Parts: sequence; structure tokens; C-alpha cells
Amino acid sequence: MSESAAETTTAIASEMIYPSSDVIERARLKDWDALARYAADNLEGFWADEASELGWYQPWEKVLDDSNPPFFRWFVGAKCNIIHNALDRHQATERRNKLALIWVGENGSVRTYSYFALNREVNQFANVLKAMGVKKGDRVTIYMPRIPEIVIAMLACAKIGAVHSVVYGGFSVDALQGRIEDSESKVAITADGGWMNGKVVELKKTMDEAVKHCPTIETVLVVQRTGHQVNMETGRDYWYHDLMKLPIASPKCATEVMDADDPLYMLYTSGTTGRPKAILHVHGGYMVGIYATLKYVFDLRDDDRWWCAADPGWVTGHSYIVYAPLIMGATSFMYEGAPTYPYPNRWWSLIEKYGINVLYTAPTAIRGLMRFGESWPHRHDLSSLRLLGSVGEPINPEAWRWYHRVIGGGRCPIMDTWWQTETGMFMITPTPVVPLKPGSGTRPFFGQEAEILDEAGNPAPDEEEGYLVLTKPWPAMMRTIYKDPDRYVRQYWSKYPGKYLAGDSARRDKDGYFWIIGRVDDVIKVSGYRLGTAEIESALVSHPAVAEAAAIGLAHEIKGQAIHAFCILRQGYQPSPALADELRTHVGQHLGPIAKPEAVNFVDKLPKTRSGKIMRRVLKARAQGLPEGDVSTLEE
Ligand code: WTA
Repeated sequence: MSESAAETTTAIASEMIYPSSDVIERARLKDWDALARYAADNLEGFWADEASELGWYQPWEKVLDDSNPPFFRWFVGAKCNIIHNALDRHQATERRNKLALIWVGENGSVRTYSYFALNREVNQFANVLKAMGVKKGDRVTIYMPRIPEIVIAMLACAKIGAVHSVVYGGFSVDALQGRIEDSESKVAITADGGWMNGKVVELKKTMDEAVKHCPTIETVLVVQRTGHQVNMETGRDYWYHDLMKLPIASPKCATEVMDADDPLYMLYTSGTTGRPKAILHVHGGYMVGIYATLKYVFDLRDDDRWWCAADPGWVTGHSYIVYAPLIMGATSFMYEGAPTYPYPNRWWSLIEKYGINVLYTAPTAIRGLMRFGESWPHRHDLSSLRLLGSVGEPINPEAWRWYHRVIGGGRCPIMDTWWQTETGMFMITPTPVVPLKPGSGTRPFFGQEAEILDEAGNPAPDEEEGYLVLTKPWPAMMRTIYKDPDRYVRQYWSKYPGKYLAGDSARRDKDGYFWIIGRVDDVIKVSGYRLGTAEIESALVSHPAVAEAAAIGLAHEIKGQAIHAFCILRQGYQPSPALADELRTHVGQHLGPIAKPEAVNFVDKLPKTRSGKIMRRVLKARAQGLPEGDVSTLEE
């Protein structure tokens, strides 16, 4: 993706799209520059203002403690719980009767929750978790389809101070098992399945396989979604609906009082090398960061219906389906299934039917829907839409224009938000009044500064590609990698001491707008999902035919990037199209369907450094017919 994106973005870098007077009229924040100046001069003051709009059990003594970088602490001395803001606070106001969640299943079932009803069910489930022995600080693994209970499970954990670790429902056994092992969860929550593309995704079966090798798991709680037969192990597995009927599931539950820097959740993500690592987020700073960003960027109002179409299993869902909209008191819309099921107008019909005002999705989804043509969206009244959003990868200008013109009717600004699991919140993003350039996330959010550096750490000239770094701390920043603080320092803060290394390459243009080009590490973005080459490679070598493997990402029209694998076979195995297929399926079964390689190539040798590290960069250049660059470290 990176090369082609870079080319096209240059061509239109001069195109500027200004907000209409309607947009400016409606915007909560009209003077972007004034607030940006204030926050730049007064970082702690800006964040203290935002924090003051939320509820705290006990105020902070210090906004930011930067005495031990990169282990920054925010709102030091404060007591809080994100649930106090997401649910408790609303119960005493008229929001209590407002819809918090509208959910539509792929098979057409609909469920709605008022703030009152959601709070009640969260309390009940929190009490169930307590009865299962879950205590403050315990980890709970959640592996569920896109149904309301995933939201309820996350909120219930947070309520009692347990740390949730959500594993995306599209992952399979190896990925799930590795994440449960690392987190040492006692309890896992899953479902009998979920609907996707008219088929049942058998999550319970995968969970059964995974927990076979995870001795820490004592209890598996199972939500009934599809009603098909699953194995329930006596003494370990319990149905959610059975437990919720018992006296233990009382609808009253006190919210645990947490320190601002107590952990809220961990979320595994793929990094440069090795196994996925757990990014740790906390209650206090995180809630302030996601609240302020959703408020300013999507300008969410009380009467808005917000649809973040991501999966709750990724950070986008954590921050902007589950927590921030609830803190704002908004109505969130959630849809279980595939955008094209049963027809490519499913999303557009949902926007019309539920009067969605803001849609936030990924470029890959837009490209995927674009290919079915304009007639599908044109059959629907999309006039309720007021703002659009994009996240996950650079949006190519063609998709940007289609989204803007066909979906947004030319009147909805597109908020292209650049951020990461690690950042917790939007970092480079416009607000509705900021003039847009298709393909650019514009400028850093209030209080933040970004730079483009060359290899030696010097600022790159305008328009030149370099490493993207962030130079100011922000409240929703990750606090550490779970169980591995050294890796946190090494990976993010060591290349350029004192600066946060994002792992992306980018350019800044003469107007100060940032253009993200893509990852510079061993992360592949498939349909916006973040996968590590190491994970894919270890799935490949777990097949008896494979001696060695390397995976790279190559440009793909819809997915952004697709996985291409290169395998050296063990003696006694012959390359064949059938074996290539078998290996693709093998990766899909072990890691998850999203990780299935587009192509498996058989090779005799892999380009390696003298120290034995695979040079994926060289493989990539070869595959694209490009020059191989500096190969002085190549062993061959
Ligand atoms: C990429 C997703 C361009 C980037 C929230 C980043 C983007 C990685 C954008 C993080 C965007 C995310 N434009 N690229 N608007 N948003 N990215 O952790 O490469 O799943 O480093 O977080 O996605 O992926 P993650």
C-alpha cells in the first residue's frame, strides 16, 4: 500500500476542502487555532479543563507527573472509575431513560438498552463475576461476537476493578491461547457463536480448544446467541442466562474506587518482533483522553446517533464504541454482521432506518462497498448523516471522494483520525471546522506535537518521508506493556530518547498537514487489522511441511495490504498448488481467517542478514520488482 498511497497523496496534496457555513454554525468548537494555542502553551491546564467535565471520587493533586519518563502518570492522587462516568452519573439525570445502545443482529434481531437498563445488566453481571471469584486487578479474557453482552462484559469488569483482555472474535485457537496464557486469566467469557455472512462463527469451540492448555482458567461463561449445540463442561462452563437469573445476580453493585492510574484493560497487539504484547490502559487519563477527543472531533451531541462500525475487540471499539460514547451520554448503534449481508446495501439501510448521524469506519470497508457501485447507497435516504470518520490505515483519495460524495452527500466532513492501540485516543485528526485534504489526518490533536525525523533523529524537511514521533505526553497513553516494562521503553522510547516512536512513516507538507504512509516495522495491516509477521510465520512453521517461513504485506485493492508468505519446505515435501492451499487454510485455522495469506510461495532460500534475521524488506522489493536497497548486511 505504502508506495501507491504516497504517489497518489502527493498528487492531491494541494487540494483543500473547506467546511461549509452550516458545519461551522453547528460546531461546538469554532476557533480551532485559539484552543490549539492555549493547549500548546498550557498542556496541563487544557487537560485539567477536560478532566473537570467528568466525575471523580477524589480530585487529583497533580495533573501530570513526568518525573520518571516514559512512565508518565496523569491525575496523580485522584480516585475514579471510568464506569462512574459511563453509567453511574447518568442514572441521576434524564439520560437514565435515553437509549445507550441500539443493536441489530445480522439475522435481523434488534435489542435496545436505555442507560438504566444497561446499568442494571452491568450491575448484575458484575455481581456474577464477583461470585465467580473475580477481584480487583484480576484479568478476564473476553472472546465474543459483536453482541451487546461483549459491551456488558467489558463494563462489568471495569466496574469491579478487574482488567479485561478482549481477544478479537476473528482470531483462532493459537492467538486466543497465547493471549490467555500471557494474561493468566481465571475467567473467560464467550458465546455459543455469532452470525457473520449468514454463518455461525463457533467461538465456544475455539475457546474449548484454547483453554485445554490454559490451566489458569477456572470458569468459562457462555452467552447464548445462536442457540446451536455447544459442549458445556460441568463445573467449568456456565450459561450467562442461567447465572443472571440467580440471586447472586443482584442489580445493585457498588462501583470499585480506583486510583487514576489503576489498570482498566489490556489489549494485545502485534509489534516489531516476537509475540503480541499487551498494551495496558488505565482508568483516569484514558477516560479523559477519549472523552475530549470524541467531543471535539465528532462533536457528539445529546441527540446524536453514533455508529462506530469497528469491532469492540480492537482499540477503536474499546475507546469509541464502548467507553467514550457512554461517557458522552450518546446513543451508540452496533451491528453484528457483515456489511454486505444479505446484500451490499445493509449498512446504508441501517443508516436510513436508525437515523444515524455520524458514521466512523475504515477505508477497507469503504473500498469494499464502493466496488458494488453507487446504486446501492442511492436507494437509501442518508440525509441524517452529518459527519463521517475514517481510521485504521491511510485512506486513498479515490475512496475518500466516494465516501464524501456518495455517502456524505458532499456535505459531511470526513474526520480522518490517526491513532494506535498504544495511544488510546485520536492523535492526528481534524475537527469539523478544520479544512481537509483527502488522505491527510491534518494536524495533531490539542496539546500534542508530532515530528518527522530522519534516521539520525534530525527533523526531515517538509514533504520528505521519515519516522513519525510524538513529543508530548497525553492522558490516554499506554502506561506500559503488561509484564514487560523494558520492552515498552525499548520499543517506543529508545530510538529517539524522549520521543514516542509510532512505528509509522509519514510526511508533513508545507501547511503542516501530516500524511501517513504506512508501517515501518513488521506489522501488516490487513483490512485495517493489525497483524505481526512473527505470528503468521510461527503459524506456518507449525505445519509439518514447513521448515522456514517469512510473511510480508503487499498492496491490495480492497484490503489495503494482503499477506504474502514465502516458505522453505522440509525434506520429503514437494511444492504444489494443493500444498499452498493447505498452508493458507492452516494459518486461517490457527490464527484466524483474517490472517490467511493471499498467496503462499515456495522458495529454496530466504534473504537473511548475517545474524540470521529475515530481511523482509528485500523480499518485498523483489516481489514488487523494485530495487533491493541497501543489502550490505545480506548473508547470501
Ligand atoms: C494505522 C487503530 C493512516 C497506522 C486505531 C497505525 C492509520 C496503526 C490511521 C495502528 C489513519 C491508524 N491514517 N494510518 N487515520 N489510523 N492507522 O493499533 O499505521 O490497530 O500505526 O490502531 O494503524 O493500528 P491499531
